[in-house]
Amino acid sequence: MGRDAEIAAMDVTLQRLLRGANGRSQLLTGLRGVGKTVLLNEFEDLARGRGYFHEHIEVSEDGSLASLLASGLRRVLLAMDAKKRIGGAVRRALGVLKAFSLRIPNGPELSIDVEAVFGPADSGDLAADLAGLFVELGEVARAHDTGILLTIDELHYVDVPTMTALIVGLHRASQLTLPITIAGAGLPTLTIVTGEAKTYAERMFTFPRIGSLSRDQAIEALQTPAADEGVLWTDDALEYLLGVTDCFPYFLQQFGQLAWDIADGPEAITLADVERTVPVATAELDDGFFRVRTGSISESERSYLRAMAELGSGPVRSSEVATLLRKSPKGVGPVRDSLIKSALCYSPRYGEIAFTVPLFDQYMKRWVP
Ligand SMILES: Nc1ncnc2c1ncn2[C@@H]1O[C@H](COP(=O)(O)OP(=O)(O)OP(=O)(O)O)[C@@H](O)[C@H]1O
Ligand SMILES: [Mg+2]
Repeated sequence: MGRDAEIAAMDVTLQRLLRGANGRSQLLTGLRGVGKTVLLNEFEDLARGRGYFHEHIEVSEDGSLASLLASGLRRVLLAMDAKKRIGGAVRRALGVLKAFSLRIPNGPELSIDVEAVFGPADSGDLAADLAGLFVELGEVARAHDTGILLTIDELHYVDVPTMTALIVGLHRASQLTLPITIAGAGLPTLTIVTGEAKTYAERMFTFPRIGSLSRDQAIEALQTPAADEGVLWTDDALEYLLGVTDCFPYFLQQFGQLAWDIADGPEAITLADVERTVPVATAELDDGFFRVRTGSISESERSYLRAMAELGSGPVRSSEVATLLRKSPKGVGPVRDSLIKSALCYSPRYGEIAFTVPLFDQYMKRWVP
């Protein structure tokens, strides 16, 4: 897997929280296809193994969080009740949750068959209300010797005030060392938390940066599944594939799978096999992985992305992109903003812009020669 450090740290945290000690959870950041969701799933397995209740939610492009949280937490409570026959305490927590969801603008109609319990989580101030909810659920979990883990994916779609409310809310439960926590994942912009919430976030989370695999990890990722079937990769085949994929997990997986299918084999995958694989795998990626992200972009967005690609694969200066397009930085501002909003690009530093998808520069050059 190659993510042993994160997995080990998360397991320690889950155990500490169950014991009533402090523990730091994780907010994973990284580009598309590096294995963030895979790692969140690992966290889920760990949590279930430790007797936790778990729910997974995925934020969508509109960025709304409160109603997703409400339905996720509802499922947690119902599962806890079904398993542990908690009764009264769960009904109260469901009542608090009902009052919470009644306050969410355009909130979900949660079919919760209990009386709303007003007070703890329905002030209308999201941070305070989330604090009320997390404490309520954390206490139920504590009283029944269990814990709650929520995994939240695509967290970068959440705006800064909502993210802040989430951190501040969770901090209250964390101060009380209640066994409830969140593990999140998103694109690199996710780390933008400001003000007081920043201090809280640093106390409650680590921010592992998930990237491409190391050479050894990449080789292992290719070799292990093949070896299980009695097949070997030749050294030059491996070397070539590491170069083409830049050791990015998603590409390794796709190219590796296809090389497996294409190889003359039966015992080895050779350089010749890989050379025949690359054009086919590249075409598949273009039609799938890359194209789904560019399907609905405008002409000016496409030109902007192409200009970025011309300047390099990593972060580039926005002003240089504008120059290349023979426009003023202000003139391309709206295009730049919409690319960031749709999460195709992000701004790693002031005045800089970068692709969120690995090897996207190569794709743009193939698409718009
Ligand atoms: N540690 C790993 N070793 C080998 N392959 C991996 C590893 N992690 C992920 N992969 C491969 O990469 C693919 C993409 O992983 P995943 O969906 O978790 O990426 P992600 O970071 O969540 O991307 P996105 O931002 O697009 O959601 C997986 O389907 C898997 O094939
Ligand atoms: Mg993902």
